Amino acid sequence: MPFITFEGVEGSGKSTQVKLAAARLRARRRPVLATREPGGTRIGRILRGLLLTKGRRELDSVTEWLLFEADRRQHVLEVIRPALAAGLFVLCDRFSDATEAYQQVGRRLDRSLVGKVDALARDGIVPDLTLLYDLDPREGLARARRRGRGTVGRFEKTEIRFHEDVRRAYLRIAKRDRARVRVFDASQPAALLFRETWSALSERFGV
Ligand code: TMP
Repeated sequence: MPFITFEGVEGSGKSTQVKLAAARLRARRRPVLATREPGGTRIGRILRGLLLTKGRRELDSVTEWLLFEADRRQHVLEVIRPALAAGLFVLCDRFSDATEAYQQVGRRLDRSLVGKVDALARDGIVPDLTLLYDLDPREGLARARRRGRGTVGRFEKTEIRFHEDVRRAYLRIAKRDRARVRVFDASQPAALLFRETWSALSERFGV
């Protein structure tokens, strides 16, 4: 069954779109699993705590990257592949494109090394469709701050240039991989954005 990933900068509203899409699919009696990275497994939730808790300034960028890959490997083996094999629609809030955008481009890690280790983590799993919620990171970060009532996680504290690089990297991925990636203007209200999300899903999967 289809593996659909949702990507975007901080505060782009992709998690709301995952929730709305899962609810609509369930209402249409489609079996769905909504999950996320990092944190889609028990081990992954521990890794998520390590990765996203603010104040962990000592976390080296290579260590950080490897923890994301460890989370992904566990998630693919324990959750994603079994769910696809069982015939579920799998909706995943972030996947390998996030590593390309945040670690390879944002943190400037070695491209071929990231590609190889990520392939090991994905274990052959590739999204059938990726929905990219494109937004100016300044607006996204402002939203994320409002949502967090003044508290911001490690990534949200990183400087704006980093997030601009991430946005550009995502758009490059979309250009490179047009058959897989659909780009949406995430500055719209969630309900309007969902119309576009749903029409992409129904066009592609006939739901
Ligand atoms: P989110 O739950 O808001 O999507 O937060 C996850 C954070 O982790 C977000 O700042 C992006 C970051 N991230 C990476 O840097 N690399 C990755 O591979 C993944 C999955 C997430």
